[in-house]
Amino acid sequence: MFPRFPPLHHTVFIAACWVGMSVLVILWHFELTGKTGSDRSDTYLRSIQKRALEHTSQEQNNVNNDGAMKLTEEVTSKNEMYDRVNTLLLFVGYSRSRHSLVSSLLDAHPHMIVADESYALRKWVQQPAWKTEKSRYEFFDTMLGNSARSVKRGRRSRVANGSAANFQIFGYRIPDQWQGTYDRYIQVIGDKTAWDTAVMLRLLGTRAIYEMKEKLGVNIKFIHVVRNPFDNIATFVLRHKDIQARTADPNVKINASEILDEKIKLYNNWAEGTFVAHKSFPEDFLSVVSMDVVKRPAESLRKMCHFLQVTCSESYIQDCAAIVDPVPSITRHRIMWTEKQINRVYATMRAFPVLFEGFTFEDV
Ligand SMILES: *[C@@H]1O[C@H](CO)[C@@H](O)[C@H](O)[C@H]1NC(C)=O
Ligand SMILES: *[C@@H]1O[C@H](CO)[C@@H](O)[C@H](O)[C@H]1NC(C)=O
Repeated sequence: MFPRFPPLHHTVFIAACWVGMSVLVILWHFELTGKTGSDRSDTYLRSIQKRALEHTSQEQNNVNNDGAMKLTEEVTSKNEMYDRVNTLLLFVGYSRSRHSLVSSLLDAHPHMIVADESYALRKWVQQPAWKTEKSRYEFFDTMLGNSARSVKRGRRSRVANGSAANFQIFGYRIPDQWQGTYDRYIQVIGDKTAWDTAVMLRLLGTRAIYEMKEKLGVNIKFIHVVRNPFDNIATFVLRHKDIQARTADPNVKINASEILDEKIKLYNNWAEGTFVAHKSFPEDFLSVVSMDVVKRPAESLRKMCHFLQVTCSESYIQDCAAIVDPVPSITRHRIMWTEKQINRVYATMRAFPVLFEGFTFEDV
């Protein structure tokens, strides 16, 4: 009664249906991935904006009709993101030594947040209200908020144009990673205002550090990004508002003797403050030579991951390494130094050999 095999036109019809469906599925897939590609940065910004909204103040939530509900949600989400924080990371050292670069790399990790400049230690000292178990998340919020803002419109919102050596635009955006945000939870939270950490330690000692450990229930770790002091100080001079280094002839040395004197003094003070951290917490102190970061970014990052006890995926390491400008910035010869000024820098280096081992005016 029934044919033994389906008639030919049935087979053709069924095959045509399969082909049609496959084409639809493929088209749909392209539509989706096409969107994801072109909208990636928008999605990224929206997720940050969402995050920023989640952090609006409690007062604001309370005036809403459903304030109580929102507040509960906010507390739950804060617990989820902050409960696993085990390390507070403070950068300590100087301005112009590539702390911005290093902190931007660490902030790209899915479980690390490093504020671009939130003055964490200073704020802690000035905010007695934070020193209760209950309010510690407000302190963390200042760092997370700062990190998110830096990605939205600060240094981490743009890619670099030109190199550090020729004073072009700095930019520390790392595509496809987690700057300004995090994946489900945070393990390490911190701040890169290195020079201000040094100022606070020099003036006030370590009391606030012990207080943070106790009240926040976290380890405190220090990262010290160190650059040849002569380049560090020279860049500091070249960046002074009265020095037009950007437009100056690079073959003519700049004579800014008084500014240089000031900067040498500042640098010495920061070294004193940095040494306070090293002396008191040698186990929790890591020196990172900025030239190593520039020349061997992946290796430097692995060392930092190990020090911070976080797992770093190879894709994270490689995405970070890809944005590091490999041209070292050697600026010491762009300004005039007197013998006396050079010797004053050496005196600082000799006072804290553990911070400045191996650097000289002549090295490269
Ligand atoms: C980089 O700067 C140069 C000159 O200042 C400009 O012409 C170029 O468009 C910039 N490139 C990017 C990617 O912004
Ligand atoms: C550099 O400037 C100072 C004054 O600021 C001056 O005394 C000194 O002679 C200058 N040095 C050179 C080599 O021009």
